[in-house]
Amino acid sequence: MEHKVKVIFVCLGNICRSPMAEAVFRHMAAERNMGQLVEADSAGTGDWHLGKIPHEGTRRELDSAGISYDGMKSRLVDRQDLQDSDYIVVMDSANERDVRELIQSGGYTPQGNLMRFMDLLPEKNMDGVPDPYYTGDFNQTRELVTAGCSRLLDRIAHELAIR
Ligand code: 4NP
Repeated sequence: MEHKVKVIFVCLGNICRSPMAEAVFRHMAAERNMGQLVEADSAGTGDWHLGKIPHEGTRRELDSAGISYDGMKSRLVDRQDLQDSDYIVVMDSANERDVRELIQSGGYTPQGNLMRFMDLLPEKNMDGVPDPYYTGDFNQTRELVTAGCSRLLDRIAHELAIR
């Protein structure tokens, strides 16, 4: 396999939403026998929790679904991520604004698609994935993230099939 489709999920703290998406996406890709075709990562735009493992609420949801988050630690999104990823998936509009600023200030053009996670679930009519760091509703995060990751894998499978 010469090139894996690379996806990076970006949120604010990289301890709640984007690590959940990374872990769910990887798990689901393996379930669909797409583990060799895709690569998932996550990062944050804020630096408060650098080096920390996912939030307890995210860990609880992943544990109850039997999904691994082994080795995952909070880190900042960087130029390399934005240049190398095929899909840059931001969790809300503030993340999108921050990522666009980073791209602009770096003066480069990302090769991949920059999209909002909720673009994958248009029927929900939601702008962003609500932040469970504030709402406390990590179950909602898991529901949205699971549905959206499934759609993203559908899209990637389709692209690979017609490439
Ligand atoms: P996340 O949630 O962006 O989904 O990881 C947050 C985590 C931490 C903070 C905000 C949001 N914080 O302000 O520390």
